[in-house]
Amino acid sequence: METVVSGIRSTGKLHLGNYYGALQNFVKMQNDYNCFFFIADLHSLTTHPTPENLQQTVRQVVVEYLAAGIDPDKSTIYVQSDVPEVSELYLYMNMNAYLGELERAASFKDKIRANPNNVNAGLLTYPVLMACDILIHHATKVPVGKDQEQHLEMTRTFGNRFNRLYNVEYFKEAFAFSFNKNLMKIPSLDGQGKMGKSNGDASCIYLSDSEKIIRKKIMKAKTDSGPTEENQEKPESVQNLFDLMKVVSSKDTVTYFDELYNSCKIRYGDFKKQLAEDMIIATDPIRSKIEDISKNEEYIQKVLRQGTEKASESAHKTLKEVREIIGFKKFY
Ligand code: TYM
Repeated sequence: METVVSGIRSTGKLHLGNYYGALQNFVKMQNDYNCFFFIADLHSLTTHPTPENLQQTVRQVVVEYLAAGIDPDKSTIYVQSDVPEVSELYLYMNMNAYLGELERAASFKDKIRANPNNVNAGLLTYPVLMACDILIHHATKVPVGKDQEQHLEMTRTFGNRFNRLYNVEYFKEAFAFSFNKNLMKIPSLDGQGKMGKSNGDASCIYLSDSEKIIRKKIMKAKTDSGPTEENQEKPESVQNLFDLMKVVSSKDTVTYFDELYNSCKIRYGDFKKQLAEDMIIATDPIRSKIEDISKNEEYIQKVLRQGTEKASESAHKTLKEVREIIGFKKFY
């Protein structure tokens, strides 16, 4: 059975981008693959969370994984920092990752542009740690959104380079995966770019947002003053809302509003109302479970204990082999 690995950073509540780009695929894959799904708390350290904030956000992601339908008896759920073998592998793989290639990563360039006062080494080597998350379990499929595609390419580069350096065929090549034809990019509500926490709360719909908040955010989402010519191209803000509608609404609904747009008869108020209601329906099963699971501390602890044990076993085996390949000898 092929192995699947993926994770989401513990930076807070999960939004629709995380869900449609990643989490929904996690849930669908768990019957047919050997799945490892973790909470990337080491990766979240690049933005320096407080200890309280770190604990709370890790817990939130575990709860939302479970609420979305990850079954801890089928998939291995764990917290990245609970498996320290990942960090050790990261140290080894850093020796074969080069400054030039790390500086060229689109995510690094974005991050330093957004936060020029926090260009830390962890940000630079972020793709190396991500590669280790994947390589440590010998995964071949990685369910992620479009924004992570380059990191998968780097993962293959690092794994292949290790194989070449030590003249072994040890690490496998992993590829980004989605049940959708293309990897997903869920757009932001603020008129441009992708949905993401760093663009502010108003630009994201969170899985835990109440119905009222979803309606409010969608009604406030950016549009323009409306089409003036038949069949004119949609501006990015409007196209983004149509793209969201394609994800949560039926084909007929999208066609209906598309035709209204093309004949300049669209009323954005009606369009947004429909989008909000369909989004509420799409997320309802998860929203209603988040609160229940969140109250069950004992269950959360049990899931993580069981997951850490399974993930540690797999990681330990890899690390033992990697140390041997590198040439470390045991003297004790
Ligand atoms: P993160 O935490 O930024 O995002 C988690 C997942 O959500 C997807 N995603 C999106 N997909 C579509 N549209 C969006 N607007 C959108 N926003 C986020 C991301 O593509 C991702 O799949 N580096 C990763 C976490 C990670 C990881 C790994 C993933 C660490 N190690 C190993 C896979 C395998 C990240 O920052 O994702």
